Amino acid sequence: MNTQSQGFEAVFGRAPEGQAAAPGRVNLLGEHTDYQGGFVLPTAIPQHTTVTVARNGTGQHRVYAADLDRQAGFAVSGADMAELPEFARYVAGALTLGGAREGLDVHVHSDVPMGAGLSSSAALEVAVLRALRGLGVYGGDDVALALAAQRVEHEFVGVLCGVMDQMASSLADAQHMLLLDTRSLDRRVLPLPAGAEVLVVDSGVPRTLAGSGYNTRRAEVEEAARLLGVPELRDVQDVAAVEELPLPLRARARHVVTENARVLQAVEADAAGFGALMNASHRSLRDDYEVSHPQVDALVAALQALPDVFGARMTGAGFGGALVALVRTGTAASVGAAAIQAVGGQGQVVVPAQT
Ligand code: GLA
Repeated sequence: MNTQSQGFEAVFGRAPEGQAAAPGRVNLLGEHTDYQGGFVLPTAIPQHTTVTVARNGTGQHRVYAADLDRQAGFAVSGADMAELPEFARYVAGALTLGGAREGLDVHVHSDVPMGAGLSSSAALEVAVLRALRGLGVYGGDDVALALAAQRVEHEFVGVLCGVMDQMASSLADAQHMLLLDTRSLDRRVLPLPAGAEVLVVDSGVPRTLAGSGYNTRRAEVEEAARLLGVPELRDVQDVAAVEELPLPLRARARHVVTENARVLQAVEADAAGFGALMNASHRSLRDDYEVSHPQVDALVAALQALPDVFGARMTGAGFGGALVALVRTGTAASVGAAAIQAVGGQGQVVVPAQT
């Protein structure tokens, strides 16, 4: 927490009424498929966002972000997003869509790294909606809650994300993978491959999702689907079909189609097979989807060269941020340190969490 940060009572002068938390997520496989009806395979990370709330008896919501030591306020009747700092937009959206009709005081604390592709924003949205559910204000189940959280991104933040992050934060745990069909929302909770554990490294390369090429990529693959005459690239069975598209749409579509196939293969794979699919995913994201970053590529290569690593790749939207590896059980911390050292000390191990 920021050294200046304060607890709920110190900020708002009264005891809280409720508290809820939600985790960040790391996606193991299935990147940039969730806005084309595809398959994803995320898991929750141990870091989470905690939201503490109380009704304040006014027509104003007040939000305090402990990690930033910043406060913002806005009317229950509606907030002008352009005037709110970014952290408050997520909260304002979740309070609005969660049906908060009375003023609330909201205290936010998070240890999910921000801007690293580990879904700190989904964790915040889901935690606020869970806090509203705890107060009896919001009544949706975990899936409805995830869909409401996704709407916050679309309608209040302006990021046209898929549903993976919010579903993972709402439904996944850190011990399992969540196989999610993002079209039907059918899902299966699966164990990690035997003998393997997850390593997450933050490259430290900053990225901002809204300002990045995310919405451009989305528009490109929508155009590719339109040219191929399918509702979504999920519906392309034979990857040869994409070869008739012009560049860059051909490369973008090839990534999505092959990535969906990799997720379905991974579900049946052992640790070595799963890792090989992660390595192939990274190549595809770097070369065809063009959402990686040279520093991330260097860390991925350093990881892939280490003996206890089954596979490694960038994770999340890309353009910097975090990477994920599947490594032999018990080796994640030392493997992460060795890879960071190999690239000259740039980067930080996020999972396993440092205590
Ligand atoms: C971001 C979005 C997700 C997903 C990933 C890429 O995290 O929020 O919906 O599209 O990028 O897989």
